[in-house]
Amino acid sequence: MNDLAAIVSFTVNGKEVAVTSPAITRLADVLRDELHLTGTKIGCNGGDCGACTILIDGRQVCACLTPLGQVAGRIVTTVEGLEREGVLAPIQRAFHKHMGAQCGICTPGMLMAAADLLARTPRPDEAQVLDALGGVLCRCTGYRKIVEAVLDAANDVPLQPMPAMGGALGARAPKWDGIAKLTGRDRFGADGIPADALWLRVVRSPHARATFTTGDLDAVRRAHPGLARILTARDVPSNGYGIYPDVKDQPVLADGLVRYRGEAVLALVGERATVEAIADDTLPIQYAPETPVVGLDAAMSADAPLIQADKPGNLLIEGRVRCGDPPAIFAGCAAVAEGTFETSFVEHAYIEPEAGYARRVGERIEIHVTTQTPYMDRDEVAIVMQLRPEQIRIVPTACGGGFGGKLDLSVQPLVALAAWLLDRPVACVYTRPESMMATTKRHPARIAARFGADASGLLQAVEVDALVNTGAYASWGPTVANRVPVHAMGPYFVPHVHTRGRAIFTNEPVAGAFRGFGVPQAAIAHEAMMDDLAGQLRIDRLDFRRRNALRVGHVTATGQKLEASCGLVACLDALEPHWRDAHATAERFNSANGRTRRGVGIGCMWYGIGNTAMSNPSNMRVGIARDATITFYNGCADIGQGTNTTMLQVLSDAVGLPMDRFRTIMGDTDLTLDAGKSSASRQAFVSGKAAELAGKALRARVLETAGATEPAKIVIANAQLSVEDARGTHSIDLASLTPDERGDVLVGIGRFDPPTTKLDADGQGVPYATYGFAAQIAEVEVDLDLGTTKVLRIVAAHDVGRALNPQQVEGQIHGGIAQGLGLALMEEYLAGRTENLHDYLIPSIGDIPPIETILIEDREPLGPGGAKGVGEPALIPTPPAILGAIRHATGVRVTFVPVLPHRLRAALREQRQGSF
Ligand code: FES
Ligand code: FES
Repeated sequence: MNDLAAIVSFTVNGKEVAVTSPAITRLADVLRDELHLTGTKIGCNGGDCGACTILIDGRQVCACLTPLGQVAGRIVTTVEGLEREGVLAPIQRAFHKHMGAQCGICTPGMLMAAADLLARTPRPDEAQVLDALGGVLCRCTGYRKIVEAVLDAANDVPLQPMPAMGGALGARAPKWDGIAKLTGRDRFGADGIPADALWLRVVRSPHARATFTTGDLDAVRRAHPGLARILTARDVPSNGYGIYPDVKDQPVLADGLVRYRGEAVLALVGERATVEAIADDTLPIQYAPETPVVGLDAAMSADAPLIQADKPGNLLIEGRVRCGDPPAIFAGCAAVAEGTFETSFVEHAYIEPEAGYARRVGERIEIHVTTQTPYMDRDEVAIVMQLRPEQIRIVPTACGGGFGGKLDLSVQPLVALAAWLLDRPVACVYTRPESMMATTKRHPARIAARFGADASGLLQAVEVDALVNTGAYASWGPTVANRVPVHAMGPYFVPHVHTRGRAIFTNEPVAGAFRGFGVPQAAIAHEAMMDDLAGQLRIDRLDFRRRNALRVGHVTATGQKLEASCGLVACLDALEPHWRDAHATAERFNSANGRTRRGVGIGCMWYGIGNTAMSNPSNMRVGIARDATITFYNGCADIGQGTNTTMLQVLSDAVGLPMDRFRTIMGDTDLTLDAGKSSASRQAFVSGKAAELAGKALRARVLETAGATEPAKIVIANAQLSVEDARGTHSIDLASLTPDERGDVLVGIGRFDPPTTKLDADGQGVPYATYGFAAQIAEVEVDLDLGTTKVLRIVAAHDVGRALNPQQVEGQIHGGIAQGLGLALMEEYLAGRTENLHDYLIPSIGDIPPIETILIEDREPLGPGGAKGVGEPALIPTPPAILGAIRHATGVRVTFVPVLPHRLRAALREQRQGSF
C-alpha cells in the first residue's frame, strides 16, 4: 500500500463501486466525500467515539481508522444500507419505538454496532448488548433506551404511528424527525457542504497568554496557490462578540494578544487540501508568551495581571441574594454544617463538532450551521459584520448535541466573513481537539457553604459564597453568577439567606453555558450540607429534605411567593420505598463484604425555567396555504431534546388536526419567528406555550372564516379545508383568500413571555415564572482499595408539570443522569492534556446503571398543558446523590469533583490516619 492514487473496488450497500484515491485515504472520508454517504458520521477521527462505525464483511469497524486500501474486494455496509426498499430494518424500528436517538449523531454508529451483534446473536442479553455497543459514545441518551431497543429488535416491532388527533399532548409520540436520524438522511453541520465551497481552517494559539505579531502573510499566500486568503483581526469589521448586549469582549480573531490556549489567531481560507496541509509552525507568527493566570487564587491575588483591562480584580460580575440576617441566626441553631466544595472544567463533548458553511447571496449572507440559537447567531454575526440583522440568514442544520456549548458563536462569524469577502461558499468543520480546546466549558466553581437548622430539623439560615472561573471571556459568566445565588440554598424554605456568586477571569478556557448554568455545582454544596445537618440531628436524610422542601405558598429567598407546581414533596414521597429498599440492600451487602462497600445517597434540586429576571419571549407561527397545506414555522432549534416533536404535539392539539398533517420548518430565521434560545430548559414551557397560543389563534381564525362555532372539527381533505359544527359542514374557499409573503392565507401567531421581574441589589424579585423540582437516589459500590466507584442504580423522581411526551422526558432524564455521573466521577478538562475523547473520558454504555424514572406531574398553570421543563433538572441531582452515596458507603465527604480513584483513595487514607 502507498499514498499514490489507485483504483479500489468494493461493494457498498449492495452496489459495486470503484474509487480512485490514495490507498491510505480514510474510508470515512471516501464514504462521505466521494460516495456521498453522509450517514457515516465523524466525531473524532481518532477511533474514540464510534460515530463512524460501519460493517466490513459484516463486522463493525471504525471507518475513520480504516484505510481505503483495506476494503478492496470487500463488502461495506453503512447506515444507508439498513433500510430495504423503503422498509426500515427491525433494529431501526426498535430504535424508533424506544426513542434510541435523541440528536441522532451517534445513531448510525449505534445501529451498525447493533446490526453486527444481531446478525450473530439475534436475541442477545443485556451484557452482550453492552459489550457490542461499548465502542460507540452517546452524549444524549444515557444509553438505556438504546439498550432497550437492541433487546427488543428481535421482536420485529412495527413502525410506531403518530398519535391520534386530539391525543398528541402527553402521548409517547415517536420523534417527528426520527426516521431521518435512523436512516442517515438527517443533515448535520458537516453533511450538506456544497462541492464548490472553500475550506476555512483556524490557526490557534498554543499559548494561554501571549502577545503576538505576524510577518509577511502575503508571502504565505503566494507560496500556496490553493490559499485564497488569510484572515486576520484587521479583516473583521467589528472584532468583538459576546452573549450580553453590553459585553462584546471576545474577538473573532485575536488582535495581538491571546488570552487562552486555543484562541483563534488567523484563518486560512482556500482549497481544503491546501489549508489542511499548512503546518501552523511554518506560519510567520511570533508569540511572546507570558505566565498565564491559572486558577481562582492566582486571578484574585493582589498582584494578578488583568485578563480584561477594564475589569479590576479580574472580577467579571457579582450576583447576590440577601434576606434576613443569617449571621445572627447561626448562633441559635441546634446544628450548623459548613464546607467548601470545588468542581473542574467540564467539556460538553457533543459528538458533533462545530460545523457549517456560509454563502453570499447579493448583499446578504446565508449561514447553514449547527446551533442552539438561530436568532442570537443572526444578531451577533450582524454586529461582527456591521450589517443589518435582516442581511443575515441562519439556517440551522440538524444539531448533534449542544448542552449549552452551541449557544456561543463558533464557525459562524468566520465563514460569514470569508464568504462575504471572497463571494464563494466557505465551510469550516472543527476537528475534535479544536472543538475541545476552543469552545466553552462548564465553570469550575469553589463554593463555601454554611447551613443551620433548629432542633426540629427546620433550616433557619444559609450563607453561600460561590466563586466561578469564567476563563478568558465573559460568555455566560453573568448568567452563572446570577443564577447560582438564587439556587444556592437548594429547593428548601429558609428564612435567612445570604448568597453570593462571583465570576472571575483567568487565562483558561472560556467557561460558558453547560446544562444548569452553575446550579449543578451549587447543588453539590447544598446537598452535602443537608446530609451533614441530617446526620447531626439524627434525622433520616430523605425525611430531613422533606421537612424543608419548598411548597406552594412558601416565599423564596428572593421574596417570590410560590403559587403553584411545587412537586418536590411528591418526588420524595415517591422515592421513599426505593430509599428504604436501597438501604436494606446496602446493609445486607456490607455485612458480608469488606473491601467493597455499598452506599445510598440522595440529591434534590430546583431549577428556574428560562432566563433569570429578564424578558424571555418566544414567538410561533402556523399557517394554511391555498392548497390546504398547513405549515408550522417552528423557531426552536432542536438539539436532540426533541422540540421538533413536542412543539408539534402541542400545536396539533391546539389546532385540532393530527400531527402528520403538518409540514414543519425549523429555525430558519427568514421563515420562522424568534423562539429564543434552546437553553435554560425553557422551550417546553415558553415556546410550548407560544405554540399552543399560535394553534389556538389559527383555529379561531379558521372557525371565524368558516362561520362555525365550537364545538367544531377542522377537516383537511383533497386540498380542501372545511369545518364541521352543530349546524353542518362549512367549506372555506382558500383560493379566494389573499396569501401573505409565505403563501399562507390563514395564519395563527402565538407569543409568550413568562412573567418575571428584575432583581434588586439584594436579589429580591421574581427571577423565574416557574421552577422544576426533582430528587434522585443513587446506589453505589466503592472499592476501598482501588478508590473506584460503580453506580449500581439511580431512581429519579422529577416534577415536570406535565410530560408533553413521557418517552422524551425519560430520555432527557437518562441523558442528564449520564452527564451528572460524568461530572461526579469522571470528567475533568485540562487544557493541553485532555483535548480528545481518548484522554477526556465521558460515560460509555457500560458506565450507566439501570435507571428508574418517576414522573410527577404537578401542573404549572402557565405552561402548555401544565408543562415546565426537564433538560437541566435531569442532571442536577445526580452528582450530589452519588457523592452522598460514596459518603454513606465510606464515611468520606468528598469535596472535589470529579471523584477520580486517586482522589478517593487519598481521602480514604486521610480518614484512616485521622481515626488513629
Ligand atoms: S469518528 Fe471514527 S471513532 Fe470517532
Ligand atoms: S443521540 Fe447519541 S449523541 Fe446524541
